[in-house]
Amino acid sequence: MSIEDAAAGHAIETLFQEGRRYPPDPGFAAQANARPELYERAERDFEGFWRDEALQRVTWFRPFDRVLEWELPYARWYLGGTLNVCYNCVDRHVEAGRGNRVAYYWEGEPVGERRVITFADLQREVVRFANGLKKLGVKKGTPVGIYMGMVPELPIAMLACTRLGAPHTVVFGGFSADSLVGRLNDMECEVLITQDEGQRRGRPVPLKRTSDEALAQSPSVRHCVVFRRTGADVPMQEGRDVYWHDLLADVSDDPASCPCEAMDSEDLLYLLYSSGTTAKPKAIVHTTGGYLVGVASTHYYIFDVKPDSIYWCAADIGWVTGHSYIVYGPLCNGTTGVIYEGTPDYPDKDRWWDIVERYKVDILYTSPTAIRSCMKWGPEYPRRHDLSSLRLLGTVGEPINPEAWIWYREHIGGNRTPVVDTWWQTETGMIMITPLPGITTLKPGSATKPFPGVEAAVLNDRGEEVGPGGAGYLVLRRPWPAMLRGLFKDDERYRQTYWSRFPGLYFAGDGARVDEDGDFWLMGRVDDVMNVSGHRISTIEVESALVDHPRVAEAAVCGRKDEVTGQAIVAFVTLKGGEEGSPEMLAELREHVGRKIGRFAAPANIVFTPELPKTRSGKIMRRLLRDISDNRELGDTTTLADPTVVEEIARRGKELAAAGEEG
Ligand code: PRX
Repeated sequence: MSIEDAAAGHAIETLFQEGRRYPPDPGFAAQANARPELYERAERDFEGFWRDEALQRVTWFRPFDRVLEWELPYARWYLGGTLNVCYNCVDRHVEAGRGNRVAYYWEGEPVGERRVITFADLQREVVRFANGLKKLGVKKGTPVGIYMGMVPELPIAMLACTRLGAPHTVVFGGFSADSLVGRLNDMECEVLITQDEGQRRGRPVPLKRTSDEALAQSPSVRHCVVFRRTGADVPMQEGRDVYWHDLLADVSDDPASCPCEAMDSEDLLYLLYSSGTTAKPKAIVHTTGGYLVGVASTHYYIFDVKPDSIYWCAADIGWVTGHSYIVYGPLCNGTTGVIYEGTPDYPDKDRWWDIVERYKVDILYTSPTAIRSCMKWGPEYPRRHDLSSLRLLGTVGEPINPEAWIWYREHIGGNRTPVVDTWWQTETGMIMITPLPGITTLKPGSATKPFPGVEAAVLNDRGEEVGPGGAGYLVLRRPWPAMLRGLFKDDERYRQTYWSRFPGLYFAGDGARVDEDGDFWLMGRVDDVMNVSGHRISTIEVESALVDHPRVAEAAVCGRKDEVTGQAIVAFVTLKGGEEGSPEMLAELREHVGRKIGRFAAPANIVFTPELPKTRSGKIMRRLLRDISDNRELGDTTTLADPTVVEEIARRGKELAAAGEEG
């Protein structure tokens, strides 16, 4: 997608000029964790700033000798230092006498199912599970796959891995067996941790069944640990599968029985797979020391966490937001968190607000899509509850339209709370562009300023900085501690994807503007990546899934604007042998994409067409398909081999839009 497309597709255009402002509240500023000097301090001595953060937020087994070694495009942080993530997130809090503090309030989806887990409980559970994993041969360096729902055993499993020094890859529970296979095989995982079933909107999610399908094609996995969530009867394969509780029946929960492994700062912590512009997802590499410092530091300042905070990040742990801001950042800071298993509208549309009221949540972090859903449901749902405990609101994952930002502040934040719109990526590991509450003047729709020490810019096609108001490509100019350390076993793709568009600069793949105050306005992806409800989905991945169906000849996919989910997936499909589309075929193809990738990637609309618009050299003209999907004036069609094709598609697209959305 070009910058012009991104700009045209984005609603900030008008409000960008209109400009509502929310200056910091003096009361909030007086007690804020962040101080204005942070920016100046980080600019004056960037490495010194990150040295101080590393010493303040993290306990090191062996101090580091050097802060940073930057050999473009690879950074190494905190060289020579050793530490353990689990020790920092769990043990040290217990050792400091804070074992009775709550680590997680867990709220199951069925009403009334609750668990309270203190840091001391968490330590016992993690030690037990790590001892269990040891029985299965897991040790430093053993790759472990995790495929679970939002149960406390998910962070317990992650922490147990980090305790042993075993790198993990968490696969979001909405992914299909095929997607799970791809990840398990790529990382060559030796153990898979899953559960019998998940719970979603009152229905079971067959996690073990999907794992079984995947394991049939994942030869490296020797053992599968199954946590019993619903008690459903699931097949267990003798010699391979073991129940979590059986594995733990005779293990010790004494921390001394399972000491925290001393890891090098640059040892692999985890891989997280994210969609890119090809059919194969990218395996993003995060290492130990820099990542932990980056997430703990950003979490502390941006969310202004206090010792008695009840912090709720309502993302899924299967995505990076959950890794960094449900598990590692908050636990490292000793923060009490809420984990909720289910959907916001189960059993009713006030479920979230009930949770906020009951636990007296003071910090809430969620996505624009969730906010827009709540807007659609109406303010009567939040109004049923006392939300006065809320002190700070955050959003992440997609551009937030100013209307949603303002609604969030007024109806959820009682028109008092700061709203921090945080821009970052799986690759960045930590928040990169964000207001600091109490300091930054907020503008609805703008992520405002780079975090202290982060240097961002917006460039035009020729690599020159655009002036105030101009649109361009977002780049980052300096390394940061939580940055990806590459793509797993793929140096070439790493260099190509992030460092070749503007040599020497990190290319984020997003379009942005900077205004006259130096504030950033994110406009969405400028590559073939769609963003649906804050989920990154590759157009090519969905196209590959579609053409994998035996009756599909060709497919082209793009994102169209959607009022709630930001973007929705539209597919243009040509069937083999001139076959016409049908509602049955549409359902079958959606199902097929669900099986190949996951249900969340199934197209919202499918336009069946006898041909796709192609240039004379045979390239599909996606730009035209995007124009059709968004009902825009069609751009230049003169390079098309057959201009009548596009008229036909446009006609069918309009028919479909008029008939209302599928699914
Ligand atoms: O396009 C940007 C969008 O989400 C992409 C990163 O997706 P992912 O790696 O899945 O991580 C999502 C959670 C960090 C970005 O390239 N994005 C993320 N946050 C924002 C955003 N777009 C606009 N505003 C944001 N605050």
